[in-house]
Order: sequence, then structure tokens, then C-alpha cells
Amino acid sequence: MSSNRIEMIGICSEEEKPLLLDELLSIGATDVIPSYKAVYFSLPSYTLFYKIHFKIKTASKFLLILKRSRLQSPTESEITSLVSSIQWKNIFDPNRTFTVEGVPADRNQKGLSSNQISKAVRLAMQAKFLSSYGTAPKVDLKNPNLKFVAYLSSNNFILSVDTCGISLHKRGYRTGHHPCPIKETLASSILKILGYDGSTVLFDPFMGSGTFLIEAGCIAQHHYPLLERKESEFGFSYLNLFNQELFKKVKKQLKEEAQNQPSLIYGSDICSRYVKEAKENLAKSHLYLKNIHVKTDDFFSTQKPAPTGLMVSNLPYGERLSHDQSIDASFYKRVGDKLKKDFENWTIALLVAQDTPYKMIGLKPSSKYNFINGGIKVKLLIFEMYQGSKKTSKNKAS
Ligand SMILES: C[S@@+](CC[C@H](N)C(=O)[O-])C[C@H]1O[C@@H](n2cnc3c(N)ncnc32)[C@H](O)[C@@H]1O
Repeated sequence: MSSNRIEMIGICSEEEKPLLLDELLSIGATDVIPSYKAVYFSLPSYTLFYKIHFKIKTASKFLLILKRSRLQSPTESEITSLVSSIQWKNIFDPNRTFTVEGVPADRNQKGLSSNQISKAVRLAMQAKFLSSYGTAPKVDLKNPNLKFVAYLSSNNFILSVDTCGISLHKRGYRTGHHPCPIKETLASSILKILGYDGSTVLFDPFMGSGTFLIEAGCIAQHHYPLLERKESEFGFSYLNLFNQELFKKVKKQLKEEAQNQPSLIYGSDICSRYVKEAKENLAKSHLYLKNIHVKTDDFFSTQKPAPTGLMVSNLPYGERLSHDQSIDASFYKRVGDKLKKDFENWTIALLVAQDTPYKMIGLKPSSKYNFINGGIKVKLLIFEMYQGSKKTSKNKAS
């Protein structure tokens, strides 16, 4: 780790990588380089280091690079000598617990296995601590203070530490009963693609646990849910570089950015149990709730809440929701018919499972994006329901 440049890696899905790149560039990161399911970048200050953990919405975690090196011929002994060259006492205290995850990039090729990499790093670290302090940090596989990641791709070795601790998609507002909530980072990415900034009315008539509503509320109200996360739940709080005073100053500044925006947000769901859950999640979200309205309602008989607006919904997958009506071709046809009849002048964004008859919606999307949600391949379809531009050509979406 060089003293003046903070070198980091942001982890995300392949599909969300362009959004993460964009977020990093706009926050002031430099040397931003995309890689597989990751973005490498540098930060000029620790103020920005703390800020990214709150403000970046599309990364699932950040890793701080401690050492990167080209190995001659990757062997355990070469890893051992590299890890032993690190001044571990500058990095963390021996009374902390830790794990090391070995990540061989070329899993199918001959080379060191994940276990071999992690063991070599772990033993070298502990040996170095023992020789410097006479005591070594303990491994805790379940709940370690620090998680190190040792990545080996052919001859390139990168040792990093997870600065987030708990994954960043765990925003802290979810009470967790809904069987298939959308991942918070994906909901936020979709709102970013849609250019949502709080200036339009937003409606999710299939809201489930209310993830879109809460992520939209966070954008509209400049609220960063992880500001409520305990300091001890961030990995960086166990590193010697942790500056509690600066961390608190950054949090205070970001809290001051919050605005009680009058953005109107509406949500409904056919199932009253999920409406109750969405209300509980909203109550935990620290958002200003005066303009966020939720109710039990069937989409097929719902009224649009405003003459124009943005609908964003994750349609039921059927196979994961036992109480659902059958999610067959006729369901998608009815959705399309309802949109054509009652949602003129709205932008509609629907997340649908790829292997469903979603083309029966019968509208031509203006754009489409592929994602993975909870292991299911999904498509985001965007329809502009404006007068004159409404196209109803069946089976055009691919
Ligand atoms: C895939 S889930 C949405 C999950 C949600 N995005 C979240 O993050 O929790 C689809 C939701 O649609 C609801 N639903 C199914 N049919 C409906 C209908 N006809 N009208 C309104 N909601 C319906 C289900 O109860 C379910 O909660």
C-alpha cells in the first residue's frame, strides 16, 4: 500500500459494472480500470475512502489493496516470502481475528488451489506477527474482524482486505420475510439507469417488501442508509489506519446532505402481509415518510397515482411465490393491456424473468438490460407509454 495513494477494488456484478464505473468517476476516484466483476481504482484521500462506503450504491464490497506483485512462478514459498515482507504491525493489531480467502483466477488450470493460497498467506501472516510481537492474531471463520482476499491470476498476486465487513447491499432496513426481494444494489442500479432523481412520481404496484420505494427514497432524499450502520460492522474499523474522528466528520457531513424532499413515491402489493413488511422496512429506513404511500391493491384494478410518472416493478416470478396467481402468458398479456389502457404518459420499467412468456406484454421496449437477480436471469424492459409513440407490436422484445 503506497502512503499517498489509496488503491482499491470495487466488487459488483458484470452487468452493474458500467454503473459502478460511473459512480466512482463522479465521486472523484482516479485510475479507474474495469476488470471481471470488479473495478480497480485509486482514491486521493481518506475522506473519500469513508465517503465511498456510504455513497456508492452499486458495489457489493470494497477491498483495500495491501500488496500487489508479480510472482516468478507462483508457489506457496513465494507467497510466504511476499507476505512476510509486509509490515503487518502497521496494518492491524494481533488481538483482532481474521480469515483469508484464496482466490485463484484460473480455477480450471493447474496451479495453486484456493486452500493452498489462503493457507500460505495465513501462516506467513501469523509467523510474522509472532516474530514481531510474540503473539499472533487468531483465525475466526464465522465472524472475523477482518477478511483478507488473496487473488492469484497467472503470475499476478494481489493481497487485499475487505473494508466493508458486511456486504454493502445489506443496507440495514430489511426485516426479511419476503421470499424474493430484489437485491438492494440491483434496485439502486435500475433507478440509476432510469435516471431517477426524485423529480418524477414513482410507483411500484408489485412492491413486495418495498425495496424500489426505499432505494428511490434514498436517492430523492439524499439519504445514505449505511450511515446508520454501526462503526464496528465496517471492516476498516479494525485496521490501524482507521481514523475515528475523520470517519465521524464524514458521517456528519453526509447526514447534513439529507433533504426532506417532496418527491412522491407510491407502492402497492396484492398481498397484505407484504404491505405490512414494506411498512416495517420503511419505518426502519430513516427516510422522511410523509410522501411515501403504500397500500394493498391488485395491479389489475389499480388507479395511476398521477397523470405522468415512472413505474418500476419486479414482476412476480411465480415459481418463488406460492400464493401468486399463475404467472403464464395470460398474466403478461393482462399486464400489457392494463398498461396500454391506464398508464398513458408514464415510463414503465419492468424486471421480468428471462425464461417467461414476457413478450406477451405486447409492447415494444425502448431499451432492455440483462441482469441476474437471486440467481435468476432477468431482463429490465423499459416502455415509454407516450401518446403517439405507443407501439403495440406483439413479440418484438427479444
Ligand atoms: C418479485 S416480487 C417483488 C419483490 C419486490 N421488488 C421486493 O423487493 O420485495 C412480486 C410481488 O408481486 C406481488 N403481486 C403478484 N400479483 C400481484 C397483483 N396482481 N397485483 C399486485 N401485486 C401482485 C406479489 O405479492 C409479490 O410481492
